[in-house]
Amino acid sequence: MSDRLVLAIETSCDETAVAILRDGRDLLVSEVASQIDLHQKYGGVVPEVASRNHLARIWPLITHALAGAGVHLAEVDYIAATRGPGLLTSLLIGYSVGKGLSIGLGKPFIGVNHLEGHLLSPFLGDPLGPQPSIGLVVSGGHTLLLRIDEVGSYQMLGRTLDDAAGEAFDKVAKLLGLPYPGGPAINRWAKKGDPARFKLPRSMVGSGDLNFSFSGLKTAVRYLMPKLKGDFQADLCASFQEAVVDVLVQKTISAATTIGLQFVTVSGGVSCNSRLREKISEACRKEGLTLKLADPNLSTDNAAMIAYVAHERFRRGYRSALDEDADPNLKLVQ
Ligand code: KG4
Ligand code: ZN
Repeated sequence: MSDRLVLAIETSCDETAVAILRDGRDLLVSEVASQIDLHQKYGGVVPEVASRNHLARIWPLITHALAGAGVHLAEVDYIAATRGPGLLTSLLIGYSVGKGLSIGLGKPFIGVNHLEGHLLSPFLGDPLGPQPSIGLVVSGGHTLLLRIDEVGSYQMLGRTLDDAAGEAFDKVAKLLGLPYPGGPAINRWAKKGDPARFKLPRSMVGSGDLNFSFSGLKTAVRYLMPKLKGDFQADLCASFQEAVVDVLVQKTISAATTIGLQFVTVSGGVSCNSRLREKISEACRKEGLTLKLADPNLSTDNAAMIAYVAHERFRRGYRSALDEDADPNLKLVQ
């Protein structure tokens, strides 16, 4: 069977996304219809609003993507959609449309783990494909440190015990009255600030394991704020960002050097953070490690990463059963 064109759908949270990928490396189109403006006034994602908008947007987006790629639906070789984890009512829209297309076209279907999408996204476009590596996934919902042995074979090395890194950015931004999602706003403010002005905790740095915790840092910011006067926003953003980045970099480098793997990858929405990109690049250079950062366009939620995982799995003979349901708690590592 041909392994040429995959059409992939991503609707795990508040972005409706469609991508078409040829031969695992030629990204013909990657469309993301963001709903951020609809959720901003609530300060976070409202599942009912997200689901209704996925339903309204998904078919026009698929049609638009096909036109953009110059591809007819009948030419698509297989369909992929995010199976989980995520918001069930959001997942169901993309997953049902994906399965429906697969049945209607008589083409294979692949349900993809959203986290595997983030995890492998740094390899999209790399002629060598996925390599054994230490993978840091930092998004709004997850902070995971994984060992990648090969596609489908991952080992959990560490995870957050409370808030995800992106969630910490979003919550601190809310305390500061900055718009949702908070990561990009804090990143912008931090560029004008002094990261050494406020001494904030680097939780779990000496814990001896590879887990993370960010809720103490958020609480430290909350208690500090009422004591501050004058112009502090840029310095506070920079100091908070530096604390998050320091822990992420320290644990990731420690995992790579202890385990002895050459490749380090960083992906997920927080991997857009310019300070994280700077500091992890510097640390990898110092340790002689090879860093693969997700392209910023493929860091926040998108369907290109789902298409890429589908491609890697399809060529290894993997297919999903059509009676399998979307799973909001889908695990990456059993
Ligand atoms: O991967 P993603 O789009 O969605 C999830 O799967 O969660 O990640 C979204 C998260 C949000 O928390 C957002 O604030 C954060 O990524 N983010 C950033 C930056 N851009 C997005 N955090 C820090 N700095 C950024 N530049
Ligand atoms: Zn995500």
